[in-house]
Amino acid sequence: MNNNNLDHLAIIMDGNGRWALERGLDRTAGHAAGEHSLSKTIDWAIKNNIQWLTVYAFSTENWLRSDDEVEYLMFFNRDILLRRRDEFNQKGVRFRFLGDLTDKKIPEENKELMTETENLTQKNTKLNLNFAFNYGSHDEIHNAVLNLHNLNLDKELTINDIKDSFIKYFQYPEIPFPDLLLRTAGETRISNFLLYQISYTELLFIEDLWPDINADILDDVLLEFNSRNRTYGKN
Ligand code: IPE
Ligand code: IPE
Ligand code: MG
Repeated sequence: MNNNNLDHLAIIMDGNGRWALERGLDRTAGHAAGEHSLSKTIDWAIKNNIQWLTVYAFSTENWLRSDDEVEYLMFFNRDILLRRRDEFNQKGVRFRFLGDLTDKKIPEENKELMTETENLTQKNTKLNLNFAFNYGSHDEIHNAVLNLHNLNLDKELTINDIKDSFIKYFQYPEIPFPDLLLRTAGETRISNFLLYQISYTELLFIEDLWPDINADILDDVLLEFNSRNRTYGKN
């Protein structure tokens, strides 16, 4: 039984760097601390019967960070999968990696681990975890347009054909649109995340930094979401 209307929660996990700098640490220590928040969020989502969780782990713009930070983030994402995927698998988490995994900038070991993890967890049903890695919404939409074009070269498509089928050309057409998009660490922007999918998503921006997130904060997030009145243009 789901005691709330939140089926799909999407999160922009922001504030790792600030968390570390506040403590006089290197920015990378903030990413390391964020692992616990992700793990707590997964447990919380399972406990609250949330079916879909989409987390923004690395954007197409994050390649612009220093070489050291990018290298650390590649290593770190690999390391988390190596150390914890069996545990997540046992909890019934199904992984999908959203984003362009064919990009030459991503190390081969990362690609292999992500593919293996998707395969390992593909029968799990407790929680669908969409891990947005090398993800950018513009990229995703441009790829959908290209797929639609390539697969329909011999057809004359009408605008209604496109409206009805557009989402089928996305990487994972089965993912429902998010009910709530949460961004931590106070910035009130979307940063190229799920632009097409959030047309009627509730937005929530909180001040807490990602490494400080815990079940109590997430309970408050859920209360806030459940108090919203979603009218979808009706009255
Ligand atoms: C989010 O935290 C993690 C990634 C983008 C990988 P940041 O690294 O953006 O942390 P701030 O925003 O600089 O504090
Ligand atoms: C968005 O956060 C990307 C991720 C959380 C992975 P950023 O910190 O990169 O976004 P901006 O720079 O504040 O827009
Ligand atoms: Mg940031």
